[in-house]
Amino acid sequence: MTIAELEEAKAKSLGEIAAAADAAALEALRVRYVGRNGSIPALIKAMKDVPKEDRPAFGKAVQQWRAEVEAALAGKTVQGGGKRVDCDITLPGRWRACGVEHPLSRVVEESAAIFGRLGFTVADGPEFENVFNNFTALNTPAHHPTMDRSDTFWFGDDCLLRTQTSPVQIRTMMANKPPVRVICPGRTYRRDTTDATHSANFHQIEGLYVDTKPVSLADLKSVLAYFAKEMMGDGVTVRFRPHFFPFTEPSVEVDFSCHVCKGRGCGVCKQSGWIEVAGAGMVDPRVFRHVGYDPDVVSGYAFGFGVERVAMIKYGIPDIRWFYENDIRFLEQLG
Ligand code: PHE
Repeated sequence: MTIAELEEAKAKSLGEIAAAADAAALEALRVRYVGRNGSIPALIKAMKDVPKEDRPAFGKAVQQWRAEVEAALAGKTVQGGGKRVDCDITLPGRWRACGVEHPLSRVVEESAAIFGRLGFTVADGPEFENVFNNFTALNTPAHHPTMDRSDTFWFGDDCLLRTQTSPVQIRTMMANKPPVRVICPGRTYRRDTTDATHSANFHQIEGLYVDTKPVSLADLKSVLAYFAKEMMGDGVTVRFRPHFFPFTEPSVEVDFSCHVCKGRGCGVCKQSGWIEVAGAGMVDPRVFRHVGYDPDVVSGYAFGFGVERVAMIKYGIPDIRWFYENDIRFLEQLG
């Protein structure tokens, strides 16, 4: 083979490599040109037949051919676990899904921002609690229905999964002197059967404001009214209905006016014009005594609302289970 013939063969081989349609074709070309019995090694073996004076130039041309073939083969492959993968740099890039914030996280973040504007900071507490923090200090006696064994996940006599975020109130007051102004978002657990509106694991946001200057139910109402407007939009109002909680006196249930029908009555609010969102009230003096606060000196309010509940009405979600299924279509739609 002359050097001119060699250059021709080289051009042909590079053309074939460039045109190879898939990994199998590339592999066949690799075997044909640089494989153990390929044409390039054969030429190297045949060097001894080349006239001595032509040998250096010919050898150089063969080595150059081999290098170019190898480079072309490498250029057509992308390392992928040792496998040869076709690489066409003219194809559009691979699309990678970009995550969106979960609707429950969004409600928590938004709530923290809204209450943050009112001076509330975020407090945290463990999901495993003891009887004192989850019940006793919250003035909940052993015979109270919420302390019923059937509602609570127990792990021995003094360890349970918190049934509410209210124990974080206790922890916060025991660790700080008044005034305290916190919200406590977190997971809560109840032994409920799961259906469209119930889940054994759900989320609450607790709020607590205690001060040495008088705090009133009117303060509570104004704060929740502000929250309702910021979260649900202008025109949403709140109403208090008398209720009972062991740790607040007086206690109320808090309704938001239905943001869908503006209070006229619709399917979302079951024709009542109102949607129940939270429990709240003025902190019971017994709770203050449990945490070492003097009820003659301090007063305060507390509230607790369900994150799922707010998210369901804000985004019009009919089934609580959708939040936990991680169906990407659902998450993307809300994101
Ligand atoms: N912890 C109560 C519940 O889970 C809600 C609540 C919080 C009520 C704070 C009053 C004050 O139902």
